[in-house]
Amino acid sequence: MANMFPCDFAWGAGTAAYQIEGGWDADGKGPSIWDTFCHGERGRVFGEQSGDVACDSYELWEEDLKCIQQLGLTHYRLSLSWARLLPDGTTQHVNHKGVQYYNKVINDLLSCNVSPMVTLYHFDLPQALQDQGGWKSPGMAALFDSYAQFCFQTFGDRVKLWITINEPYVCAKLGHEDGVHAPGLKEPGTAAYLVGHNMLRAHAMAWHSYNSLYRPAQRGAVSLAINSDWAEPLDPASTEDIAAAERYLAFTLGWFAWPVFVTGDYPESMRSAIDAQSKKLGYNGGSRLPRFSKDEPSVLGTADFFALNYYTSRNVKPGGGCGQMLCMKADRDAEEVLDPSWPVCGVSWLAVVPHGLRKLLKYIKGTFNSPAVYITENGFSQTGPVQTEDVQRCAFYRDTILEVAKAIGEDGVDVQGYFAWSLLDNFEWSDGFSVRFGLFHVDLSKAERTRAIYRSGQEYAEIIMKHKTHTKD
Ligand code: GAL
Repeated sequence: MANMFPCDFAWGAGTAAYQIEGGWDADGKGPSIWDTFCHGERGRVFGEQSGDVACDSYELWEEDLKCIQQLGLTHYRLSLSWARLLPDGTTQHVNHKGVQYYNKVINDLLSCNVSPMVTLYHFDLPQALQDQGGWKSPGMAALFDSYAQFCFQTFGDRVKLWITINEPYVCAKLGHEDGVHAPGLKEPGTAAYLVGHNMLRAHAMAWHSYNSLYRPAQRGAVSLAINSDWAEPLDPASTEDIAAAERYLAFTLGWFAWPVFVTGDYPESMRSAIDAQSKKLGYNGGSRLPRFSKDEPSVLGTADFFALNYYTSRNVKPGGGCGQMLCMKADRDAEEVLDPSWPVCGVSWLAVVPHGLRKLLKYIKGTFNSPAVYITENGFSQTGPVQTEDVQRCAFYRDTILEVAKAIGEDGVDVQGYFAWSLLDNFEWSDGFSVRFGLFHVDLSKAERTRAIYRSGQEYAEIIMKHKTHTKD
């Protein structure tokens, strides 16, 4: 298996600022929508928990660095907290302590020969910008571009791999349709499409800025991280199920990848499904899926690689509405069915399907013109009592990495890196700390937040080591 991976393959693990840093109001940081969400109404987050302290990585970064070194990672994916750098979200006021913190993280990584992959936005909008309308507001794109340019200017001499926005699908749907993520809006069937649209515009503006102003000197690469399950027709012989599986992929992967990699616009099947549903329900506010303006720089071609977050797979058949209401599920008309043979780990949505990743990679190669791909997230969760000897997660990583090897070696997919989610057990959004994805356990009962490697962390370290030894020969 080891010889399938190119010698400069990126072996990484990821985290996100709000999930690990803590220090939510330390040293001049402004509040983000996740601070507000967790501190607000009860019952939104498991056990009323929050990321106020989390793994305390703001104080304990050096402990994280030890974990990174213990795994032998070549790359580490982290996100910047926008409100730590720019407390009110604008470049009018820079928090130098925040800059210092990330400078130290980046410099320490580089001095240990670990390349940073930096995400600019991982769910944590400065609250001050939410107060101005947040991602529903078209003006967010230019504000994001200023923030992105600030980061390129400040850190881009050392950071060569950038992700603008992590999982616009999740921000749009969970945050603005279902209301289970910050900012907690429940506006089904409308807000998510608007938010997704403004995120694509924001991403494209930042990419164009990088391309013309920073790339010539900095020579890095920029993309956005798109999450998608793999979807198969429940009955492979049924044309309805085949069409439902295609719609499922169009509404997750295609929503963001089609405009960026193929046409500069949304998948036609997505628009026609949304418009047909509007008609059926007598909605006459025009297409709920916005159109890209010809007066703005195109979103087409604004990714230097394909960044994929993959966790699970689904079998799909038509269905899954919400009565006579507008909602994305009814637009998509694709009901998810879990194959009973797939083990479910920790959380109910996470069926373990390593071979789905290989199929999705092959699909990406065929649909999006053979892009270079980084798997920017993939992982396996644990709930209940802590199991340090997490043998199932060990098998999961072995099996998944084997599927990646096959995608490279047998299907010819240009996979350039794999980032396990996550380096540490951390704040898993509305599940709080009840769901653990770490390669290291973090003891939240102690002020020192002691990190301890899981067996799966050791397993991953061995895989990386074998690969490095092999490619040295
Ligand atoms: C992703 C998200 C991560 C992490 C992961 C596990 O959607 O980007 O922050 O929470 O899921 O559920």
